[in-house]
Amino acid sequence: MSTPQPPKRFAVFGNPIAHSKSPQIHTAFAAQRELSLRYERIEAPLDDFAGSVTAFFQHDGAGANVTVPFKEQAFSLCDVLTPRAQQAGAVNTLWQEGGRLFGDNTDGAGLVTDLCHNLGWPLAGRRILVLGAGGAVRGVLGPLLAAAPASLHVANRTRDKADQLAALFAGHGNITAGGLDDLQGEFDLIINATSASLAGAALTLPAMQVHRDSKCYDMMYGAEPTPFLRWAAQQGAATADGRGMLVEQAAEAFLIWHGWRPVTAAVIASFGK
Ligand SMILES: NC(=O)c1ccc[n+]([C@@H]2O[C@H](COP(=O)([O-])OP(=O)(O)OC[C@H]3O[C@@H](n4cnc5c(N)ncnc54)[C@H](OP(=O)(O)O)[C@@H]3O)[C@@H](O)[C@H]2O)c1
Repeated sequence: MSTPQPPKRFAVFGNPIAHSKSPQIHTAFAAQRELSLRYERIEAPLDDFAGSVTAFFQHDGAGANVTVPFKEQAFSLCDVLTPRAQQAGAVNTLWQEGGRLFGDNTDGAGLVTDLCHNLGWPLAGRRILVLGAGGAVRGVLGPLLAAAPASLHVANRTRDKADQLAALFAGHGNITAGGLDDLQGEFDLIINATSASLAGAALTLPAMQVHRDSKCYDMMYGAEPTPFLRWAAQQGAATADGRGMLVEQAAEAFLIWHGWRPVTAAVIASFGK
């Protein structure tokens, strides 16, 4: 009689990490096919992410997700990067093959799937405004531009960072950049990718024209609408938060590790309950 195999071991690395919903999401995905796995939260020391990841893979780790503030360090640690990880300059999904560490970035695919498939908000031919120019924005610009919007403007409090991103992605589509204070024009889709909502801070959006059919998306999510989404709803725009993106980026990682893509709708619907 063969000995039953212990469940494969997965983890999410971050600091802090106690808030992460990834264990619940991956456990819910696994239950769809009665797959047995262990998925834990690991708070890596700020000064030894590499040591923590190495120990994990030496002790039967099969795959790992990476969140703030380690995505850039994960990128540097990998032996092999997927094209979208190279483009993003950051890694949120790790696994090993033949003793080599592989890295991918599933954030952009997760966002685009949530926008286009879950919410039914088309991107092709639309005028998109992205607020923020941090790690998350770098991860999503490639997939957003690949969806062929009419234009994509990146606006950031620190203008230089928006300019740098626009220069980096100039070959991928019609991308422009500016500061938050010199915003002009009208947009079909506004994506808040600043961490302003984390602190509950309202973004100052000067003279921004949101028309009747505009959509507003906040990558942040929480029990209550973010200040940005409250502002958007007051302007009459359709709104959504980032829980769908979180579940969809997890589904992409799950596909890499297990070879099948879980159904996400019920997991998104149950999120936060
Ligand atoms: N739903 C998901 O799956 C998902 C995935 C990834 C990220 N996220 C969310 O996306 C957000 C950004 O993450 P990140 O990794 O890109 O963070 P990050 O690298 O730290 O970048 C933060 C960005 O927010 C801007 N910012 C911070 N406070 C601000 C304020 N009070 N007013 C205006 N701008 C402000 C910063 O501007 P400066 O450059 O001027 O400092 C910067 O552009 C976070 O809320 C994160 O939780 C969600």
